[in-house]
Amino acid sequence: MANSWAMDGFALFVIKSAVVVLLLLLEAIGDGEAARARLERWEAGIRMPTEKEEREENGEEIGTRWAVLVAGSSGFGNYRHQADVCHAYQLLRKGGLKEENIVVFMYDDIAYSEFNPRPGIIINHPQGQDVYAGVPKDYTGENVTAKNLYAVLLGDKRAVRGGSGKVIDSKPNDRIFFYYSDHGGPGVLGMPNLPFIYAVNFIEVLKKKHAARGYKEMVIYVEACESGSIFEGLMTEDLDIYVTTASNAQELSWGTYCPGMVPSPPPEFLTCLGDLYSVAWMEDSEIHSLKEETIQQQYQNVKYRASNYNTYDVGSHVMEYGNKSIKFEKLYLYQGFSQDTEKINQNSLQFHMDVVNQRDADLLFLWQRYKKSEEGSKKKKEIFKQIAETIKHRIHLDGSVELIGNLLFGPERAASILSAVRPSGWPLVDNWDCLKALVRLLESHCGSLTQYGMKHMRTLANICNSGISQDAMKEACMAACRGRPSGSLNPSNLGYSA
Ligand SMILES: *[C@@H]1O[C@H](CO)[C@@H](O)[C@H](O)[C@H]1NC(C)=O
Ligand SMILES: *[C@@H]1O[C@H](CO)[C@@H](O)[C@H](O)[C@H]1NC(C)=O
Repeated sequence: MANSWAMDGFALFVIKSAVVVLLLLLEAIGDGEAARARLERWEAGIRMPTEKEEREENGEEIGTRWAVLVAGSSGFGNYRHQADVCHAYQLLRKGGLKEENIVVFMYDDIAYSEFNPRPGIIINHPQGQDVYAGVPKDYTGENVTAKNLYAVLLGDKRAVRGGSGKVIDSKPNDRIFFYYSDHGGPGVLGMPNLPFIYAVNFIEVLKKKHAARGYKEMVIYVEACESGSIFEGLMTEDLDIYVTTASNAQELSWGTYCPGMVPSPPPEFLTCLGDLYSVAWMEDSEIHSLKEETIQQQYQNVKYRASNYNTYDVGSHVMEYGNKSIKFEKLYLYQGFSQDTEKINQNSLQFHMDVVNQRDADLLFLWQRYKKSEEGSKKKKEIFKQIAETIKHRIHLDGSVELIGNLLFGPERAASILSAVRPSGWPLVDNWDCLKALVRLLESHCGSLTQYGMKHMRTLANICNSGISQDAMKEACMAACRGRPSGSLNPSNLGYSA
């Protein structure tokens, strides 16, 4: 075997050398152009023995598979999002995607966090193996930004700031798999560095990539609260993109494998290890042959698990958007294909459902730390203070937004206007610039929205949709939130969400 390999390699070398000599000869007699074309045709036919070209069922050559993986949070209380993304990376590599074709965005503060009971290791399942080793540090820390994400998707190296500089340099025949996991709110997805990703900007980037013929087809998976709102009324069917989201436009998504749940993480973990929709698709991919399973089958399986087996007593409504013809394709076109998964018995796993909503998962982490720390210690007091401040700010935000609504619309109409939900097929807001302006106004007077405050995006959108002027909004903010927000809750310290 080794012998024939060496022969092949040598034969290849001889052939290539001969082609080069031929090219030089032809160049000399003035037929360079034609020779080069011929060389290209020749080279296309010469391949390393391992480099067998893959074809789709219809006989078309499969282009390069690309992937963008994004964990939008930081902090050990958000362990699960980076764990999800690392797991996805391992899955795609096992499926044969190359490192150079996968771009990873993760803050990278988990593996070596002081809270990590297994330094240098990240797991995404209670009995899970390490998923951290080998994950490339393309965009970490300060470089995990919405702007960099847009530049990477567009393949625009010059617009990238910091990081590895790796971008999605894809061709018209290529496929792209995009996976995001984090907190979200109506119309927005979180990023560890502000501002957020706004639905309108994200969809704009996809449209540009499509117009530039940057892919054949794209599949997008998004885990976040209210993730449906990113695509509702904005995602058209003509972009050759198929999307599924963890939740519809107006509900939470869920963390899972959390302390005190069944199954729970190893006792030394005080944080959730995964998110329900995310582990549902990855564990589904791991027990099926991706050469056989279609995207639609995965969608159905994930929907079933995320709805607690169609009961919806907990969990969320997994949604789909974009061009739904694409879902009849096989998963390996996006996630690759590993021989291992083929043999695993299908339906061999029964899943238990135990979850915590995304917005309370960080409190759960603080609460676990509080319970575990020594009675009467300074640390215990500090954690308690942190819990109290977190809850206080939540109450402050909720109360301020309610008061602003009352000031703008009067107590009789406010509640119904602020909580109105547009029918499906409508975007969250007509004027996204208005929404961004209101976010800045609210934050500068009432303090940072934080992950929790993202939930008020719909209220702000509704204020825009009802035609309230920015001056009126400013007055209401000033009246509702007297006194400047302090410390990390002052947006001039951490940045604005818009
Ligand atoms: C951001 O990217 C720059 C340039 O690659 C790098 O020097 C820096 O260390 C990165 N920051 C983090 C926190 O990774
Ligand atoms: C949706 O995708 C299918 C299959 O790729 C394609 O034939 C069809 O034209 C697409 N529809 C739109 C509206 O682009």
